[in-house]
Amino acid sequence: MRIDIISVVPNLMSSFFEYSICKRAANAGLVEVVLHDLHDFSTKKHKQIDDYPFGGGAGMVIAIEPLTRCLDQLMSERTYEEVIFFSPDGIVLKQGLANQLSLCQNMIFICGHYKGIDERVREKYVTKEISIGDYVLSGGELAAAVTADAIIRLIPGAIGDESSALTDSFQDGLLAPPVYTRPASFDGMDVPEILRSGNDKLIEAWRHEQAVKRTMERRPDLLHD
Ligand code: ADE
Repeated sequence: MRIDIISVVPNLMSSFFEYSICKRAANAGLVEVVLHDLHDFSTKKHKQIDDYPFGGGAGMVIAIEPLTRCLDQLMSERTYEEVIFFSPDGIVLKQGLANQLSLCQNMIFICGHYKGIDERVREKYVTKEISIGDYVLSGGELAAAVTADAIIRLIPGAIGDESSALTDSFQDGLLAPPVYTRPASFDGMDVPEILRSGNDKLIEAWRHEQAVKRTMERRPDLLHD
């Protein structure tokens, strides 16, 4: 998988991709995340990439020329299944969408900033708009990093324990059950006996029961989705 991320502040994301599961996946040759600084595609003095909005109003708008120059260059080099723009206007990222995107070979992520990007880029190039929640961020960079992380960890081999991405919260529509490690007893708090019973069938049933209980208590909406 290859993810090209276009941003006006790519450094915001570089350390994230240097230290996370994403880095391990990159080292294993499973994914390549390429950050592009939009300023490199400006032909203006001082590498300007934004301009005043037509019609007036506060804030600057990312201009169409540097963005299309960057997009056209990437699209001439390979075929992309998705060009994703991050915005609170988009569909809210859920596990199902992450699963779907984890099957893509090549994707472009566009991070907005300031007041947004010229609408014509959204009309001509963008195939999906994604929001990571109903709040406004200062830019799309954190949303792009969150989305990339959610996708990359699903690539087989990206995380140590092959089965654990599949047992994540949400993967079966339920929250994850509680987990414990040694010591079995700490300060009067004991690990549930069943987890130490060695009976895999009983443990699996207990975990499922706990997952359902936790989901009913904390996220009953997930049970009706
Ligand atoms: N850009 C600004 N706010 C955002 C959000 N909530 N999700 C995705 N991109 C954004």
